[in-house]
This record gives sequence, structure tokens and C-alpha cells, in this order.
Amino acid sequence: MTATFAELWAEIAPIGRAPAGGYLRYAFSEPELVLRDWFRNQADRRDMEVTEDGNGNLFAWWGAPYGHGAVVTGSHFDSVPHGGGYDGPLGIVSAFLAIDALRDRSVVPGKPVAIAAFVEEEGARFGVPCLGSRLLTGAIDPELAAALRDRDGVTFGEALGARPAGALPDLMDRVSAVVELHIEQGRALDVPVGVASAIWPHGRWRFDFTGDGDHAGTTRMADRHDAMLTFAYTVLTANKEARLAGAHATMARVAVEPNATNAIPSLVRGWLDARAADTPTLERLVEAVVKRTVDRAGRDGTQVTVEPESVSPEVAFDADLARRLAALLGGAPILPTGAGHDAGVLSAHVPTAMLFVRNPSGVSHAPAEHATDGDCAAGVAALATVLEDLT
Ligand code: GLV
Ligand code: MN
Ligand code: MN
Repeated sequence: MTATFAELWAEIAPIGRAPAGGYLRYAFSEPELVLRDWFRNQADRRDMEVTEDGNGNLFAWWGAPYGHGAVVTGSHFDSVPHGGGYDGPLGIVSAFLAIDALRDRSVVPGKPVAIAAFVEEEGARFGVPCLGSRLLTGAIDPELAAALRDRDGVTFGEALGARPAGALPDLMDRVSAVVELHIEQGRALDVPVGVASAIWPHGRWRFDFTGDGDHAGTTRMADRHDAMLTFAYTVLTANKEARLAGAHATMARVAVEPNATNAIPSLVRGWLDARAADTPTLERLVEAVVKRTVDRAGRDGTQVTVEPESVSPEVAFDADLARRLAALLGGAPILPTGAGHDAGVLSAHVPTAMLFVRNPSGVSHAPAEHATDGDCAAGVAALATVLEDLT
């Protein structure tokens, strides 16, 4: 007898759960390695061969590994700090269960199916999101990826244990379609399952503000060159410009030196996450924030430099495929998202679709992220239908 959604979900639910709430499942951290072992074990139980692509991505094959016309499904195990448990793992658990469902119906696929576990989708450890799928498709230079450092100074190459293999055209050329199932992340879906139309263009920009470190008690207000002040202005201006543009801007990560209560900071490093429905709007938003920040730094007597750490172009998923899958699923809604996904990176190379599972509160990247077992089971059934169709 095959497992139910609730049974299989319960196997991974405790892995990487943080006492303070949510999950800590960074790429190659202990919990993520346990999840990778779980993945191999699930594949083993189903007689599915597992291959690694030299970039940190795992593939479990139903049918011949690297076979012609392969259909890739799956998602990622890694989380943002204290993120929800569904973002990523839902797509992997659902993929194993969808294959169970097809086997229970004695479906014999005409093409191989691969369940992927992509590495470092969130960029929570090494800073660049969708790192595994970018490497696989040649969207990032392997040397550059290898040199990315986490907050403790460990490089991606060190964590991987090798120089990343980079683009694998032999694999990508054999893939006929990609379908990633994911929890919906923005209160945009009011039925159990939807189909993705697009991903907003988005990116991460690092702002380094430098000023003069000094004594908090003795430095006169008029004499200060306070990097925190310029940073604070940038946070407010990013929010305002995003509202005016109908876009999204967030500054949620910050590092301060010396980070002392009684010392004016000499350095503040803040990261801007900006997203918009189209590229011109995103570019105008970031330009406006940078311009206002530079003006303000001039008034504060501080300096600012801005470095794009990753920029992800607008993704329009294959519209014919989305329409066909939506019809196959009984008229499922087709909707865009502001969240990034490996499927977005892969869509530049292969016909790609995404299925979204309803998220009743819309919360994601936070401990309250949730989907009901009933909706997740509906997601599994939808993925099985789609895989049967695509193979
Ligand atoms: C990934 O989840 C992102 O959109 O940041
Ligand atoms: Mn995410
Ligand atoms: Mn995700």
C-alpha cells in the first residue's frame, strides 16, 4: 500500500524544525543533508536510480536516467531562515506520491520522469537564489558560484566538496518538459490547485553605507556621519517608491559594524529585494531608490556603493502549456507570482509549467506558512494527471 500525503509529510516534518519557529534547512546544513538522505531512501523504496549532477542537484529517475524526452518535476529542500516547511519540500514529496499514484493505476510512462531536488533555491546561505538550476543551465559561471561565501566564510565550492560542474547540455537537451509543484505564496488562489502564468522580474542589491565610527555620548549631532541614518532613509524610500510604482521592495537583512549600542556605526550593509510586474517598472524602481540614496548620502556625509547580487528576468511560462494543463485540471485558474522558482530558470530552456497549491493565509517565508492535507492531496492528484499527460 502506498503512503498518504499526511503519512509521507509526517516523515520530513520534524527535520530542521527550529525551536524558535519555522525551519532552518540551509543548503548542505545537517537538516538538508538528512533530507537528501531521505530523498535517496524514498527513491530506493521505489526502485528509482538517483544521479547527482555535480552542481549539488539530485535527480531520482523513474525510467532510464538521462533518457530522451525526460519530464522533470520536484523542487527544493532548503529554506529561508525560520521559513515555512512547504516552500520547496511540498514539490518533492508530492512528486514521489504522484509517481505512486500513477503506478497504482498501472500507468507506464512513455518518457522517463525525474524528481529533482535543486540545491540553494532560496539563496539563504550563499546569497544567489536558484543557484543549482542556474548552474545546471549555465546561467552562472561555476567559478563565480564556487567562490560565493556564506556568513561564516565557507564557500559554495567547499560546501559542495568540488568545483561545480556547471552547464550540463547533455541532460538539458534530453528534457522535454518541466513541471514544479509549489505552495502558493500570496493569498492569490482560492481553489485547491492553480497553474502559473508568470514570475515577476526581481533581484537583490547590496548597499554598503560607510560613515565615521565615533562615540555615541560625546559626538555632537551636527558632527556625525552616521551610516545608519542613510540606511534608514533607504529603507523608507524603497518602501515609498515601491508603493508609488505598484511594485514590491523589502530591506530585511542588515549587518552593522561595530554593532554596538554606544558607538555610531562605521559600516551598515543592507540588502534590497525588489520585484515588479514588468522589467521597466523594476528598473525605474531600483534607479529611483539608488538616486535618492546617493543624494541622501551626500547630505549625511556618508558614502554608499550598490552591487547587484542577483537579477532574475521576467518569466512568462509557456502559455499554451499552461492553458492546456489548466483545462486538463478542470479549469484551474492561471495566475502570476512574485516569488522566484527553479522552474523560472529552467523555463528559458524547456517548456515549463508550475502548479500552485492553495495557501489559506497567504503567508510564506515565515513559520505560519500552511496548506491543508486535503489541498496537498489534490496537488498530488493534479501532478499525477499532468505527468501522465506529459509522458
Ligand atoms: C524565493 O522564494 C524568492 O522568491 O525569494
Ligand atoms: Mn521561497
Ligand atoms: Mn520555493
